[in-house]
Amino acid sequence: MNKAEQLPDPLTTPLDQIDVSDARLYEQDAWRPYFERLRKEDPVHYQAHSPFGPFWSVTRFEDIVAVDSNFEVFSSEPTIVIGDLVEDIPIEMFIAMDPPKHDDQRRAVQPVVAPRNLADMETLIRDRVVEILDNLPLGEPFDWVERVSINLTTQMLATLFDFPFDQRQKLTYWSDIATGSPEIAGGDVDHEERMAGLNDCLQTFTQIWNERSGGQDSFDLISLLQRDPNTADLVDRPMEFLGNILLLIVGGNDTTRNSATGGVLALNQNPAEYDKLRANPGLIPSMVSEIIRWQTPLAHMRRTATRDVEFKGKQIKKGDKVVMWYLSGNHDDTAIENANDFIIDRANPRHHVSFGFGVHRCMGNRLAEMQLRILWEEVMQRFSFVEVLAEPERVRSNFVRGYKALQVRLHAL
Ligand code: HEM
Repeated sequence: MNKAEQLPDPLTTPLDQIDVSDARLYEQDAWRPYFERLRKEDPVHYQAHSPFGPFWSVTRFEDIVAVDSNFEVFSSEPTIVIGDLVEDIPIEMFIAMDPPKHDDQRRAVQPVVAPRNLADMETLIRDRVVEILDNLPLGEPFDWVERVSINLTTQMLATLFDFPFDQRQKLTYWSDIATGSPEIAGGDVDHEERMAGLNDCLQTFTQIWNERSGGQDSFDLISLLQRDPNTADLVDRPMEFLGNILLLIVGGNDTTRNSATGGVLALNQNPAEYDKLRANPGLIPSMVSEIIRWQTPLAHMRRTATRDVEFKGKQIKKGDKVVMWYLSGNHDDTAIENANDFIIDRANPRHHVSFGFGVHRCMGNRLAEMQLRILWEEVMQRFSFVEVLAEPERVRSNFVRGYKALQVRLHAL
C-alpha cells in the first residue's frame, strides 16, 4: 500500500473522524481537501480523539482572527502547540504567556527588531547571502534546503547574535532540541539531552553577555538588549534570559528556512509568476508576503479556553484546547481571492494569518520579510532560473510546515 492510501478519504469520512492533527497530512501535502471540507461543513470542529487528546479546530480566516484577538477567553498558557508540553526546565517565554506579563517581556525585547535596527543589520545580512549564493554550483543538482535555506538561517542567526561563527551549528541544535521533545510535535529528543543542551545554551550566552559591552556601534541582538534600560539586567534573570534567547532563536529559524525553500517551489509550480518576477524584480517585496502566506511556515497556534464560551454556535468548555489553523485560514476563499493560487502581485499581499494576530502577532515579521527580500534580490541578480528537479521531501509535523530536501539546478543569467 502506498503512503497516500493510508489516509482517510477527505470527502466521505464522517466529519467527526477528520483529524487534522495527523502529521502525515502535511508530510504528504494532502491537507487541502480536509480543511476545505471543515471550512465548508464544520468550521469550528471538535475532534474527540487524537494522539494529542481532544481539541477544537478553527479553520476560517475571520474566526482565527477572532480567537487570536481574544486572549481573555483564549489563553496562550500553558503552551501554544497542540501537544501538552511536559516542562522540565522553567523557561519563561512570552509567546506562552498572557498579558500583562506577556506585554512587559515583549516590550523589553521588541527594540531589537525596531526599523532602525533592521536597517543597520541589512548590510550584514546581505553580505552573508551573497557569500552563500556565490559559492553555489551552476548547472549541477544540489539540495537547496541544505546549501541555501539551512545555511542561510544558521548564518543569519549567528550574524544577528554576533555568535562565534565557527560554532554557529550550536544555534540550530539548540533550536531543534527546544522544540524537539516527543510531546510537542512527535520529535525524538530525550529528556537528559534536552536538559544538557539548554544548560549549555544558557551558559554560552551568559558568557557572551559578560564579554560584550553593548557598545553604540554594535547592532547584534545581545548588544541591543544590553543597551535597552528594560533588558540591561536580563542576564540576572536566567530563566527569562534563556527563554527570550530561545524564542528569538526558534522564532527565526524553521520559519524563515522553510519560506526560503517554499518560494523556490512556488515559483516552479507557477511558471507564469516566475516570468512576472523576471520581468519586474520590483515585485519582490509583495512576492515575499505571498510566499509567507502560501507556505504558512507555522501551520497552527493553540489556545486554551479560560471559561465556558459559545463560539460560532459551539459550546467550548473551560480548559478545552482551541487550535487556530493558520494554514486553513490562508486558503479561505471567503477572505482571500483565489486563495489556492500563488499570485506575486496581489493588491493586498500582507492580508494573511501566517504571522498571527493580536498581542502575540509575530515580533520578527519585518525581519523575516527583510531576510527573504534580500535573498530574492540577490538570487535574481545571479540566476535566471532556480529549477526544481524533484518533488520535495517534507517534514512530518502538524506545527512546522517545512522541507527536509529540495533538489534544484541553477541557470546563470
Ligand atoms: C516567515 C517567518 C515567520 C513566521 C511565519 C512567523 C510566525 C509566527 C507566529 C504565527 C507567531 C505567533 C502569532 C500569534 O500567536 O498570534 C509568531 C510569534 C513570534 N515570532 Fe515569529 N515568525 C517568523 C519569523 C520570526 C523571526 C525572524 C523572529 C525573530 C525575531 C520571530 C520571533 C517571534 C517572536 C519573539 C514571537 C512571539 C511574539 C509574542 O508572543 O508576542 N519570528 N511568529
